[in-house]
Amino acid sequence: MTHSTLPETQAASRLRCIQCAYEADHAAADFRCPNCGNLFEVAFPGWQTPQGLRAAGYTAQGLKDLWRERKSSLAPADTSGVWRFRELLPNLKPGCDPITLREGNTALYDLPRCARAAGVRALQAKHQGMNPTASFKDTGMTTAASFARQKGFRWVACASTGNTSASMAAYAARGGMRSLVLIPDGKISWGKLSQSLDYGAVTCQLRTDFDGCAKVLNELVKRRPIYLLNSVNPYRLEGQKTAAIELLEQLNWQSPDHLIVPGGNLGNSSALGKALLEMKDLGLISGLPKLSVIQAEGANPFYRSVREHGGKTLIPTAADTLATAIRIGNPASWKKALRVIETTQGMVEQVSEVEIALAKAEIGSDGVGCEPASAVTLAGLKKLVQQGFVQPDETTVLILTGHVLKDPEFTLKFHRGDLFTGTPQEKDTAPLVPQQRAPFVLDATVDAVLKTLDQFEAQGENV
Ligand code: F0G
Repeated sequence: MTHSTLPETQAASRLRCIQCAYEADHAAADFRCPNCGNLFEVAFPGWQTPQGLRAAGYTAQGLKDLWRERKSSLAPADTSGVWRFRELLPNLKPGCDPITLREGNTALYDLPRCARAAGVRALQAKHQGMNPTASFKDTGMTTAASFARQKGFRWVACASTGNTSASMAAYAARGGMRSLVLIPDGKISWGKLSQSLDYGAVTCQLRTDFDGCAKVLNELVKRRPIYLLNSVNPYRLEGQKTAAIELLEQLNWQSPDHLIVPGGNLGNSSALGKALLEMKDLGLISGLPKLSVIQAEGANPFYRSVREHGGKTLIPTAADTLATAIRIGNPASWKKALRVIETTQGMVEQVSEVEIALAKAEIGSDGVGCEPASAVTLAGLKKLVQQGFVQPDETTVLILTGHVLKDPEFTLKFHRGDLFTGTPQEKDTAPLVPQQRAPFVLDATVDAVLKTLDQFEAQGENV
């Protein structure tokens, strides 16, 4: 079946509480269930099975063909790597165009050096940092910001460790809305802060951490008509889930054995897992990858919940890590992420600051690069291989969430060798030295450059 014979219909959707299954068409300002206080997800009644698809005039193969054919279309919604998959997204009303910066359509890269470092035969990374504002947040912001505009909001807001705010500010600006950003003072990268300033957000640096910012915002949205764009907003996760659909398309609909995702507020792992389960239910894929979540040791409430409390409860922690994007101690979506780990039989691991720094440099050495929070994936993979959970000949895809230019200060300090100066980790940094490439400051002569080159080669550098 080709696109010309397929109807342009989308699934009808409702909000459903993940705990008590209460259903609603609209959520309160804080996106919490009025019955039990848990989060909502977007459900597609009647579309959860191949029979449901057929009743709407589709088949699994027909959908795959349609999505592929849209790649050659010039229409804005088709050139977006999110809205291209709109049959599996909640509907915007007729006449409401999506706010799009042509997000998604991100590359899947081979990482041969990283594969060797992790002890696996092959390794790939889906680089969500290759989005318009350089993080995975854009795929969810295009959907949630579009719903904000459809609902008639003038203001949108988020609490953020930097990437959500950069993305929200951009999409609000494109959609003609004002944006309010709450970020922890001093604990986000300058690159991310400068993005939200440039895109015109009202930016407030609060003297607290991310969790403190989220608390303030949850109260604020109850007092003013401001639309909340954190990942408790289920429309964010709908957009973010398309990264998994696109990944499976890139893999010709063959599931990898493992998918490895960084965990902060746990929206992304929830979103990717939701897509995997929906694709399985609809017959688009036959097997599920094991989705594993990796946290930084200093911001590990989910790891501890699963390892110490069997996932029954989550005890918030005071978070601290140089991977500031995931410096989160009270993740909102932990129950959704837990369901994904359990259903896909994945793992939760934690990695140290030094392990993150080394993995980030190794991802850079493959010519790809990423921000520190994304590098927990490779650091975590190494541990999962050592533990025998990932076998050397199994296929693994890392989800890299942010671009290498998001946090140049971390990178420069790493290569100059002073990332951990004066910290308890200083004594553990010997494994980092071979990866460090501090810049040489030289006289402006050919001889000076040649001498440096010769010295470098004499060290037997193995590129
Ligand atoms: N990687 C990066 C680069 C991030 O910015 C984030 C989260 C994560 C991973 C974790 O994703 O929260 O869905 O588990 N950043 C948020 C922000 C919290 O405000 O930018 P998660």
